[in-house]
Amino acid sequence: MSVIENSKLTVVGAGAVGSSVAYASLIRGSARHVALYDIATEKTEAEVLDLSHGAQFTGSSDITGGSDISVAAGSHVIVITAGAKQKPGQTRTELAGVNANILKTMMPRLLDVAPDAVFVIVTNPCDVLTVLAQEATDLPVERIFASGTVLDTSRLRVKIAQRAGVSVASVHAYIVGEHGDTEFPLWSHATIGTVPILDWQPLDGQPKFTVDELDQIAVDVRDAAYKVIQGKGATNYAIGLSSARIVEAVLGDQNAVLPVSTVLDDFHGVSGVALSVPSIVNAKGAAPIRETTFSANELGLFRRSADALREVAVSLR
Ligand code: 2OP
Repeated sequence: MSVIENSKLTVVGAGAVGSSVAYASLIRGSARHVALYDIATEKTEAEVLDLSHGAQFTGSSDITGGSDISVAAGSHVIVITAGAKQKPGQTRTELAGVNANILKTMMPRLLDVAPDAVFVIVTNPCDVLTVLAQEATDLPVERIFASGTVLDTSRLRVKIAQRAGVSVASVHAYIVGEHGDTEFPLWSHATIGTVPILDWQPLDGQPKFTVDELDQIAVDVRDAAYKVIQGKGATNYAIGLSSARIVEAVLGDQNAVLPVSTVLDDFHGVSGVALSVPSIVNAKGAAPIRETTFSANELGLFRRSADALREVAVSLR
């Protein structure tokens, strides 16, 4: 799948999310070599062992890892999942202080061993951490971005697909903005095939979507992680799959359109914050698609998302 020979992915953090990113990447063959790095030696070595025991059933990818930063040497892409996780009821932005410090310490060390890597920040609040890590490292903005609303977009598409009676791949819709409480769907561009969502006649004969229903879907998607965290303490599988998909776009130099979060420069008037918008993802990293248009209402929501995240970032500088 990857066009880079001997492609190497390092996943930083061997918790539920990091292990799931590694697991999904091995199953999907996202990279030729997968490494798992975490300071917790015993836990990391155990995860690596467990993952390696399934090699008979995965493709040609291999897994290594441990608590020495050298395991990340020569990585083409590094996915960062290390940090404190949300407790039930806690917002993503409440994790900002502690996780910003972890990231600021780690980034220079990772760059020492993998100077050419593309960095994907999954640790929350991923948008805020992307801005801080980009500023701390001075990396080109395309080389460091957050997984952003790739996962939320999948949650949205799954919900629409179930109600519309079509396959998830036939739903074209995006969540943009913060990966968190101010995110929102770009309903102005949501289609099933080429049909605008409000015009779609569900295949099971149920009534068409209504505006109120779309509002409720947006709320359900926004709050989806809270529900999972309430029930099992963390989300891990879907973020693992989303991250593996992003890794494939980078290592495969795919020019895939994915709603990842990069530090914006005058994107519809927004600069200096990282927010998700449909972006081109390839071996160089990610670049927002500048031709993306918003309705007047969506533009207002986008700016609100930017203001909310700017406030969190300012409080940490
Ligand atoms: C998620 O959305 C908590 O950010 C994590 O699943």
